[in-house]
Amino acid sequence: NQPHRIAVIPGDGIGQEVMPEGLRVLRAAAERHGIALQLTEIPWASCDWYLQTGQMMPDDWKAQLAGMDALYFGAVGWPATVPDHVSLWGSLLKFRREFDQYVNLRPVRLFDGVPCPLAGRRPGDIDFLVVRENTEGEYTNLGGVMFAGTERELVIQESVFSRHGTDRVLKHAFELAMQRPRRHLTVATKSNGIAISMPWWDTRAREMHARYPEVSVDFQHIDILSARFVLQPDRFDVVVASNLFGDILSDLGPACTGTIGLAPSANLNPDRRFPSLFEPVHGSAPDIFGRQIANPVAMIWSGALMLDFLGHRAAHDDIVRAIEQVLATGPRTPDLGGSASTSEMGEAIAQRVGMGA
Ligand code: NAD
Ligand code: IPM
Ligand code: MN
Repeated sequence: NQPHRIAVIPGDGIGQEVMPEGLRVLRAAAERHGIALQLTEIPWASCDWYLQTGQMMPDDWKAQLAGMDALYFGAVGWPATVPDHVSLWGSLLKFRREFDQYVNLRPVRLFDGVPCPLAGRRPGDIDFLVVRENTEGEYTNLGGVMFAGTERELVIQESVFSRHGTDRVLKHAFELAMQRPRRHLTVATKSNGIAISMPWWDTRAREMHARYPEVSVDFQHIDILSARFVLQPDRFDVVVASNLFGDILSDLGPACTGTIGLAPSANLNPDRRFPSLFEPVHGSAPDIFGRQIANPVAMIWSGALMLDFLGHRAAHDDIVRAIEQVLATGPRTPDLGGSASTSEMGEAIAQRVGMGA
């Protein structure tokens, strides 16, 4: 029973407030299920560290983290002092790329007891997975500014879609769809307007579909797909999208379930050559930092996804049940209409996990 080595990276803003609650619940689940965890707290990958050192991470960051079994990550970004592209390309986006975490899995679910902003929707109506490509696509550093400062100033920013990178995330999405009762996959596209990469993406998806004939597939342009998240969320099961489209859908989906404070994510390197990273979908929320009102559920649920990935399905299920119960009965943070603090909600969930939720 070797301990799982986990790097704990709180980061900035509410990352520092929700991480202790994530750890509290993780420890409760580990104790109950006899799981050995070796947690290593990482002070870098934060804007504070950047302001002290001039770098987001030490030069040997990769060596320090490569031997970990997983990274448990809060949020990075403090735009008042460090430009976001500097802090994020210096940390989170580096992890995703250099550890080849090519699947970003983002579950979206409406829970009992959480007010839904969409009229007439009940738990069960919204329960789908966004599978976001996580290493290429629209997120690049390729391009530049020409004729800067002149009338002819011109900016080019390239997108990158490789066959390898596209096929592997599509395959993962089809495999996930196969495991679900509805076996339905929605492919996000924009092949009407983005005339090179997106028709090609559709072709790759059609080719992959031939290997999974049991899965029903529909292609939707990203504009109407977004509208249908709001109007017909019950028609979605698994949704696969490019990096940018997946980013947008994975805030919109959770917003349709009441708050982005619930939404977890798993940045997976399915080959397990490198550690995978588990983090809330949300960011550092400077607007509420310091008040202890951030919803800790996204962080806690991300911890459950991490335990599942490490082979502890029962511990995952316990945590999700505890989340369900606390969302149904309280205490709840203000984004859920309650007045509880971050730690009151985290403690309530940890307590239920400890009782065997
Ligand atoms: P954000 O997700 O931090 O906040 C958006 C809104 O949602 C805010 O009003 C915030 O108060 C609210 N919110 C977020 N999480 C919440 C929670 N757990 N409970 C209650 N309310 C919550 O997005 P933003 O404002 O665009 O970005 C702020 C900073 O975070 C920026 O630096 C951005 O680049 C960074 N960011 C980081 C990550 C990440 O590390 N994965 C993700 C998104 C944004
Ligand atoms: C997310 C975030 C990041 C992204 C930002 C902070 C770079 O929004 O994880 O969804 O766009 O991937
Ligand atoms: Mn995002």
